[in-house]
Amino acid sequence: MTPPSTDFASRVKGAVRRNFNQSADIYRAFEEKTRFFYTLTLKLAEWMGIEKGDTILDIGCGNGASCMALREYCQGTVYGVDLSEAMIADARQRIQDPHIHLFVGDGEKLNTVVGDQRFDAVMYNAALFVFPNPKASLSQAKTLLKPGGSLGFSFYPRVYGPGNSDLIGWAYERLGLPLPKFRTITPWEKACDALEVIFGTIETTTYEMDGSVPFLIDFFSIPAQSASLFPKESYEERARRVRELFESLHEWDGHFTIGWDMAKAENKVSGN
Ligand SMILES: C[S@@+](CC[C@H](N)C(=O)[O-])C[C@H]1O[C@@H](n2cnc3c(N)ncnc32)[C@H](O)[C@@H]1O
Repeated sequence: MTPPSTDFASRVKGAVRRNFNQSADIYRAFEEKTRFFYTLTLKLAEWMGIEKGDTILDIGCGNGASCMALREYCQGTVYGVDLSEAMIADARQRIQDPHIHLFVGDGEKLNTVVGDQRFDAVMYNAALFVFPNPKASLSQAKTLLKPGGSLGFSFYPRVYGPGNSDLIGWAYERLGLPLPKFRTITPWEKACDALEVIFGTIETTTYEMDGSVPFLIDFFSIPAQSASLFPKESYEERARRVRELFESLHEWDGHFTIGWDMAKAENKVSGN
C-alpha cells in the first residue's frame, strides 16, 4: 500500500478543515434534531466492548457529540481530537466536563497531540473515510493503546435496496447526473486492509437504519457531507442538488436501508 503524496494529503486536509469549519452550525442543528452521531457512537462503543471507567481517544471528534456519548456510556475520561478549529470551538462552548479534553490536531500526527497518554480504546466515529493516510493514523493509534485495548471505526453511509444495490448511484442515474469520482477519500476496503495489516485479526459489522429520505437530506445538507457528493459546486448549489437527489428516492419502489459499516480490532497482549 503506497502512502499518498504529501501534497495530496495536505490538499485533502486543507479541504476537510475548510469544509468542517463551514459546517459547525448546521452540524450542531442536525445533531440536536436527530441525535444521530450520538447514537452511532453508542452502537460502536457497545460493539467494541468499551467498559466502565475506560480512558478513550476519540479521533475526528467533531463538535463533541461522540465525546459526550462516550463519556455518558463509560463514565471514564475522553480525549477528543479534531482538525477543524470551528468544530472544536463549538464543542468547547457546549461541553463543560472536566473528564472530556478537547484538542485541535491532526489524527495522522497523534503523538504531537496526546503525548504520553495511553488509552483503553481508540475510536473514529464517522471520520476515518476522509483521512488521506489512514494507515499512518491507525499505526500511531495502536502505539497509544494499552495492551488488550480496542480500536474501532464507523464509516460512510451506504444506501441500499434488496441485493445491496447502491441507491445513491441509482438516484444519480435517474437524474442523469454523473457520479462523483469518489465519495470518500479512503474507501472502506482500504481502511480495513490497513487495520488488518496493523492489528492482524479484524471484525466487521453493519449498523442498519430504516431508509428515510428526510434523514438523508438533513445528513447530506451538512456542508462537509454535501461536498462528498457534489464537490465542485457552491454550498447553496450542493444543498439544492442534495434535496433533488434524495427526493428522487421517493420513486424507488420499496423499502431501503441506510447502513453504517464498522470495523474493530484488539491490541493483543503478546503471547495471545
Ligand atoms: C462526520 S464528522 C464526525 C464527528 C464526530 N466523531 C461525531 O461523531 O459527531 C468527521 C470529523 O472528522 C474530522 N477530521 C477529518 N480529518 C481529520 C484528521 N486528519 N484529523 C483529525 N480530525 C479529522 C473532521 O474535521 C470532522 O469534524
